Parts: sequence; structure tokens; C-alpha cells
Amino acid sequence: MSHKKRIAVFASGTGSNFEAIATACEEGKIPADVAVLVCDKPEALVVERAARHGIKTLAFVPKLFPSKVDMETVIADFLDENEIDLVCLAGYMRIISNTLLSRYGGRIINIHPSLLPAFQGARAVEQAMEYGVKVYGVTIHYVDETVDGGRIIAQRAIPYEGENLEELFGLIHAVEHELYPETIARLLIGR
Ligand code: GAR
Repeated sequence: MSHKKRIAVFASGTGSNFEAIATACEEGKIPADVAVLVCDKPEALVVERAARHGIKTLAFVPKLFPSKVDMETVIADFLDENEIDLVCLAGYMRIISNTLLSRYGGRIINIHPSLLPAFQGARAVEQAMEYGVKVYGVTIHYVDETVDGGRIIAQRAIPYEGENLEELFGLIHAVEHELYPETIARLLIGR
């Protein structure tokens, strides 16, 4: 019998997507466990969330590593030790480079708050609003060596014509919390 799949979530901040994924696993909506959290900001709220769920955490301060290669080597070794099948970036505000991609490429996915390829990179929602966009959205994609350019797995559009950024973030998060667990479940089941 194959083992229950093991997910690593990478996050840097609030961790509402981490929470949605961990809860979906606990409720059996995703046929896997969140085995570990990887976090580059030890003081982030997501670290407390992981503790509440009893999820093992690797939290580190990036500038204490001599190089990005050293940092990603430690992360990849931690993923190996914990027998991770799938890495889900959820608000992890760092570019994944070749050290991790060469060992986990094809098994790393990301959620981004725009309809890619529009509005890649940081401040995607703010940029879209500055453009006067009328349809926002969320994309889940594979991570490759480009920034937000890997193959798209799932997308959902969010029509919004207002100018209230806080309200819009609320709508985007609500969609993310549904779409990310659903997409992870589909990927793990092989559909
Ligand atoms: C999410 O909205 C996610 O789409 C975004 O960060 C937020 C994290 O929220 N990711 C990016 O912008 C990646 N470029 P959370 O910490 O509450 O899950």
C-alpha cells in the first residue's frame, strides 16, 4: 500500500492559506498530511498556527546563511528527512532557485493573487487595481526558474469593480482558501 502523501507548506506571513490547507488535510478533504512548515520569518503568525496544529516547523533567518545555496541546501535536506511528496508555497515571499529546483522541481506549486501571466511578482493586487482591472483572480502554478511563470494548474476569476483594497483582499483570500486545497487534492489524486 502506498503511504499517505506528505506536504510541506512554505510561508512568510499570516498563513491563512497554510491554515486552509492544514484544516483540509485534518478534515480528510486532502488525502495527505501537512508534515512540515518552512518559514523564513521566525516571528510570523504562521509559525504559531503550525504549533497549534502540532506541525513541525523549520523557521530560519535567511541572512544568517553564508549564501542562498547554503540556505536552500538546508531546506532541501529537511524536506528529504521528512519524506516530502509535494511543496506548496503559500505566501512564501522568496524566489526559489536552482538548489531546491534541482531536487524538488516538478513537485513545487505556488498560489499567486492574479490571473497570471498578468501581474507577476510582488504587489500583484495593488498593481492590478492601479490599472483599473475589472476582473481579478487567483492562479495556482508549478514553480520553475522563472518568477510566477511556471505552467498553470488552476485559475479562478474574481469580478470586482470597486476601489476598496481591503474588501478585494477579503474576496481573494476566500477564493484562495477554497481553490488551493481543492487543487492540491486533485493533484494528489492524479486528476
Ligand atoms: C496570498 O494572497 C498569496 O496569494 C500571496 O500572499 C498571500 C499570503 O496570504 N502570494 C503572493 O503574492 C506570491 N507572489 P496568507 O499568508 O494569509 O496565506
